[in-house]
Amino acid sequence: MEKILYIKANFKEENDSYSLKLGRKFIEDYKVKNPNAHVKEIDLYQEDLAHLDHERIGIVFSPESNELTKYVEEFMEYDKYVIVAPMWNLSIPSILKTYIDHIVVAGKTFKYTEEGPVGLLENKKALHITARGGLYSEGPGADFEMGDRYLRTILGFMGIQDFNTFAFEQTGVFSPEQLNEMLEKKYKEAKKLTEEF
Ligand SMILES: Cc1cc2nc3c(=O)[nH]c(=O)nc-3n(C[C@H](O)[C@H](O)[C@H](O)COP(=O)(O)O)c2cc1C
Repeated sequence: MEKILYIKANFKEENDSYSLKLGRKFIEDYKVKNPNAHVKEIDLYQEDLAHLDHERIGIVFSPESNELTKYVEEFMEYDKYVIVAPMWNLSIPSILKTYIDHIVVAGKTFKYTEEGPVGLLENKKALHITARGGLYSEGPGADFEMGDRYLRTILGFMGIQDFNTFAFEQTGVFSPEQLNEMLEKKYKEAKKLTEEF
């Protein structure tokens, strides 16, 4: 049975957020198409996540299972990841970075070798669903986009090479009516995407 971890890094109500609306549509379509898949949702704002500090880093990197190693242990168990996060300050919300600091753990999701670090998460795939106020997928804004690029790189570092992006852009540019029309088109794309995921 395929296992999908649906990770939400957005504090908004689903109805007020373009990324969460798109994420919901995608995952519901996915479930219809794959009724046997096991989907677990994790809302990072409801978790015991805080910046790593002197005490916490030892708990996260502990060889014994504990209340903070549960994040990496859970992550390792899944086959596919859907990460829903808005663009904040050209990047990802810091809560998602904090979560990543809890799951990039030597000996678990990557290892050091004489040739350098090697990812340990093989045969997995990820989809980043995001919304952005401006345009970053093309044109002059593209060089400023750091969030999707970071996620692709850090997941790749852990061995997850199959990474795709599904972005809803210019939410700060168009009117709510225009955005609703654009969203309807994106919903159709979301359905198609489930076929490849
Ligand atoms: C703290 C914060 C920082 C943001 N930074 C950017 C940014 O750097 N570039 C951008 O285009 N939009 C930025 N935005 C706008 C959001 O990306 C945009 O509103 C998007 O639709 C949010 O996703 P959501 O609708 O799923 O919540 C920012 C919004 C917030 C609240």
